[in-house]
Amino acid sequence: MYTLLKQDGHARRGTFETVHGAVQTPAFMNVGTSAAIKGGISSTDLVELKCQVELCNTYHLHVRPGDDVIRAMGGLHKFMNWHRPILTDSGGFQVFSLAKLRKIKEEGVTFACHLDGKRIFMGPEESMRIQSNFGSTIAMAFDECIENPAPYDYTERSIARTTRWLVRCKEEMARLNAQPDTLNPRQMLFGINQGSTYADLRVRHMQEIAALGLDGYAIGGLAVGETAQEMYDTIEAVEPHMPADRPRYLMGVGTPVNIIEGVYRGIDLFDCVMPSRNARHGTLFTWDGIRILHNEKYKTDESPLDEHCGCPTCRNFSRGYLRHLFRVNEMLGMRLGVQHNLYFYNTLMEKIREAIEQGTYDAFRRHWVPILGRRI
Ligand code: GUN
Ligand code: ZN
Repeated sequence: MYTLLKQDGHARRGTFETVHGAVQTPAFMNVGTSAAIKGGISSTDLVELKCQVELCNTYHLHVRPGDDVIRAMGGLHKFMNWHRPILTDSGGFQVFSLAKLRKIKEEGVTFACHLDGKRIFMGPEESMRIQSNFGSTIAMAFDECIENPAPYDYTERSIARTTRWLVRCKEEMARLNAQPDTLNPRQMLFGINQGSTYADLRVRHMQEIAALGLDGYAIGGLAVGETAQEMYDTIEAVEPHMPADRPRYLMGVGTPVNIIEGVYRGIDLFDCVMPSRNARHGTLFTWDGIRILHNEKYKTDESPLDEHCGCPTCRNFSRGYLRHLFRVNEMLGMRLGVQHNLYFYNTLMEKIREAIEQGTYDAFRRHWVPILGRRI
C-alpha cells in the first residue's frame, strides 16, 4: 500500500508497504541482475549501503540457475539472504535487448538464449510463473520495450499488445497467488507504460493500464535512444494519468541528474545499472561531481574519494590507493568503487526525501543538478 506523506510541486514523499517491509520513497532500487550486485557486493553489504530494494532479472535467473532451482532453495529472498523487498523485472526488456533471433507473436516471444543459443519461449504466463517461483515482492508485467525512435504505427500496435499481455499477467498472477503452495501469496504486480515518445500513445496506454487497478505503475521504454529532454517531456505527459495512490517507477533511469529531474516530475522509484557499472570502470559519483579515478592527478592524492561521503570506502581509503587498484585491475578496486556509488545513490535519495519533506525540493534541484552533472 502506498501512502503519500507530503507533496512538493509534483515531487512526492511517500511510504510503500510490502510484505517484506516498508520502502521510503522516492527510492533507488539497487540492481542485482543474477541475484548478485556486480562488483562483489553481498546482501549484508547492501544493508550498510542503505539499500531499500534489490532488483533482479527474470530472464537471467530463468536461464541460470533456473527458477525451479531458486524455488527449491526456498525463493529468492532465502537464496541470497536478502529479506527486504525484491523487485523482479519481467524479462520483457532483456528479451528485446539481449536475446537473438526474436520472434514476437500474440502468445509471446520465442528467442535464442544469449549464452548458448537455446530456444526459449516466454509470454505473460511464463514470466508470471517464473516470478512466482522466485517469490519476489513485486513482479513486473511482461511488456514489449521498443527502441527509440520507433515508427508510430508499430508503436500503436505494440502498446495494444502490451495491454493484452498485461491483462493475461494479471489473471495469471491472481491464479498463482491463490495456489496453496505459492511462495508469496501477496506478490504484487506493476504494469508498464509504453508508447515511445508519442505523447498521445503514452497517455492512451497509461489510461488503459490504470483501469486495471494494479499495485503500481512503471514508465518503460525510456533511456533507450531518446534525448533527456524527450524523456522528461514523456514523463510530464504521462504523469497526470498515473494513479496518485500507487507508486510510480521509471525503469532503467538513470544518472543522478535524471533521478532528480524524475522526482521533480512525480516519480517515486528508479533503478539503473549505472552506479555499479560506472564504478567498475573507475567512474565515481561524488558530491562535487563525477570523478574519473584513472586520472593522473590522483596519483599521490591522499584525500578520500569524496570528502562529504560516509561510505566504507571513503572512511578508509585514499584516491591514490583506489586509482592504483583500478590501474592494476584488482577486484578490490571494483568492490570499493561500487560500494561508494551505491551508497552515494542511496544517500542522494535520502537527501531528496528530506528536501521534499521540508518543501524545498525545487531549490534542492536547482542547487544539485549543475554540480552532480559535471566532470571534475
Ligand atoms: N527496464 C528498462 N526499461 C524497461 C522496459 O521498458 N520494460 C521492462 N520490462 N524493463 C525495463
Ligand atoms: Zn564514499
